[in-house]
Amino acid sequence: MSPSVASSVLSSATPRPARACGVDFGTSNSTVGWWGADGVQLLPLEEGRSLLPSVVFFNFDEECTRVGQAALADYLAGYEGRLMRSLKSLLGSRLLDGQTEVHGRIVAFRDLLSRFIAQLRLRAETGAGRAFDTAVFGRPVRFVDDDEAADREAQDTLEQIARAAGFRELSFELEPIAAAYHHERTLTRETLVLVADIGGGTSDFSLLRLGPERATKDERISDVLGCAGVHIGGTDFDRQLSLAGVMPLFGLGARLRSGREMPSGVYFDLATWHTINRAYTRQTLMALKDLGPDIADARKHARLLRLIERRDGHRLALDVEAAKIALSQSNEYGLSLGRFEPDLVCTLSRGDFAAAGAQLVARIGDAVDELLRSAGVPSARVESIYLTGGGSSMPALRECIAARLPEAGIAVGDTFGSIGSGLAVAAARRYGYEPARS
Ligand SMILES: Nc1ncnc2c1ncn2[C@@H]1O[C@H](COP(=O)(O)OP(=O)(O)OP(=O)(O)O)[C@@H](O)[C@H]1O
Ligand SMILES: [Mg+2]
Repeated sequence: MSPSVASSVLSSATPRPARACGVDFGTSNSTVGWWGADGVQLLPLEEGRSLLPSVVFFNFDEECTRVGQAALADYLAGYEGRLMRSLKSLLGSRLLDGQTEVHGRIVAFRDLLSRFIAQLRLRAETGAGRAFDTAVFGRPVRFVDDDEAADREAQDTLEQIARAAGFRELSFELEPIAAAYHHERTLTRETLVLVADIGGGTSDFSLLRLGPERATKDERISDVLGCAGVHIGGTDFDRQLSLAGVMPLFGLGARLRSGREMPSGVYFDLATWHTINRAYTRQTLMALKDLGPDIADARKHARLLRLIERRDGHRLALDVEAAKIALSQSNEYGLSLGRFEPDLVCTLSRGDFAAAGAQLVARIGDAVDELLRSAGVPSARVESIYLTGGGSSMPALRECIAARLPEAGIAVGDTFGSIGSGLAVAAARRYGYEPARS
């Protein structure tokens, strides 16, 4: 049996729960991990499930706010309202200081994020049966590419938001290091591992020496040979697939009678999770209607107007995401667009998707190269690639990473839970345990 972190690093004769929890606030999904009396667990956040989609829905009909699966379910059931997804993408973006109108009320994006994180805290507390005012939060290696000041500001902002959500003491751990702590619990010998966490918003890498002996050390900095990351994740692949394969059916790239190309801004808004609501403004709709006489392809224009008038942007984006996920397994996927025109189906192939995402894959590959270069480690010395995060299932990405590390085997972990579990380990290490009851 391999020594687990439970019995080594965080040794205690009598199992004692940790004082702090680990919060993985993800672009697409969130988890909260905690070292409870029985070891690491992911706390139930929604009807017994530990994975909470990072989604908020303001339900206007019922005058309530929902999060997680319940938010998606209300939206898909057709309630009038406003859906917000990919909230974490606002961190490090200029949009964060903006606001959105929700049923005549102005809601600042910062408050929205705070409300979501407050829900994570409350639900974790209910699941654990105790209060949490201390936490280790995960953070990507890069919130913002190539801008140190903006990157630091994004972490500071997340800290303020977490404090507003009720956490009094908190610190951060890089997500790919948290994933490594989780993976380490399965290792039986020392291994040089590249951790690849491909999430919804970012791709994060760490190169570490891991093993049962090392897991017992308090100080781990010398085991981390390097980290790298890039602000590209699954949602960027959704956008590329939408722009290349789906939006052209709504008029992207079409010529107007005047010879101009159809203005593309609205398509980019619709293809990008956190800007979809921008496509619903009255100005956008008026501008599109005003194009009427100049429109050469009336069918495509009618589909676009229908999409906006029915506020179906998120539904379409969910369908595109489902197509992307299906293309990890199959060579072809038929995306039904019957809501916009009877019998309309958009056929997407894995080859088309690979072409649409090729630049993204190449940039993610560059991050791996950069990590190996800066760590000064020859690629042949890396023994194992630990893949985690939902996006790591994409075949093209797997191939791109594996091709760089010819000697490494591939280990696939708990795709959605490894960061939260690893953060629970980090939280126990940093903040210790509850005192033993006498
Ligand atoms: N089988 C699959 N094939 C391809 N992509 C997938 C698959 N399953 C999930 N995804 C994608 O994985 C992403 C979500 O992964 P995950 O939950 O790890 O991200 P996250 O932790 O929320 O994001 P981040 O860590 O970047 O903040 C989404 O873009 C989703 O579409
Ligand atoms: Mg993640």
